[in-house]
Amino acid sequence: MIYVSPSVLACDFAKLGKEVSEIEKGGADMAHLDVMDGMFVTNMSFGFPVIESLRKVSDIVFDVHLMIAAPERYVERFAAAGADIITFHYEAASDSAALLKKIRSLGKRAAISVKPGTPIDVVYPLLPLCDMVLVMTVEPGYGGQALIPECLDKVKALRAEIERQGLSVDIQVDGGINEKNAKDAIAAGANVLVAGSAVFRAEDKAAAIRALKEA
Ligand code: DX5
Ligand code: ZN
Repeated sequence: MIYVSPSVLACDFAKLGKEVSEIEKGGADMAHLDVMDGMFVTNMSFGFPVIESLRKVSDIVFDVHLMIAAPERYVERFAAAGADIITFHYEAASDSAALLKKIRSLGKRAAISVKPGTPIDVVYPLLPLCDMVLVMTVEPGYGGQALIPECLDKVKALRAEIERQGLSVDIQVDGGINEKNAKDAIAAGANVLVAGSAVFRAEDKAAAIRALKEA
């Protein structure tokens, strides 16, 4: 089963509630919410108040991608704000194992992410604690970039390792995913596709979501 998680970073923030309800009706499995702090990445996006407000108007799974320094400071707040999946960056956390456990103890799905330059094997010892691993396919910080094809080799290695350990862990890819390259990401072993521009810049969002699922 392939899941699609449209990234709202590419949407019109003045119409956020409406855009999320559109993707929900259009068959999206979750909404990808990119939180950026201007420290871990140079860009800034949004935080708790936006997620809290959105939670009141949508029942879709909130897939919260934290691109923030020292994420351990804030996971309780994101859980309370309405996150269902909380993904933090390996490069930003001081104790990834402890943080994954903490997220699960809050009743949320726990995920860890690696930037393109980080070797994928750093997450191997953490896999039993993960519900999902996010393999970034662009440098985090901005939507609308082109996928770095080498990152899919990491997806392939990770899928083999998950199987070797006999686990069931989702692999998410994020950055530059579109109708054309989605099949490569899926063939490499990804089963959760994040797509910002490919969904929100499309004329027909439901058709764009369908095209990704059927890639
Ligand atoms: C980038 C974000 C992505 C981004 C994806 O740092 O993590 O989620 O919004 O946007 P596209 O699909 O346009 O690359
Ligand atoms: Zn993201």
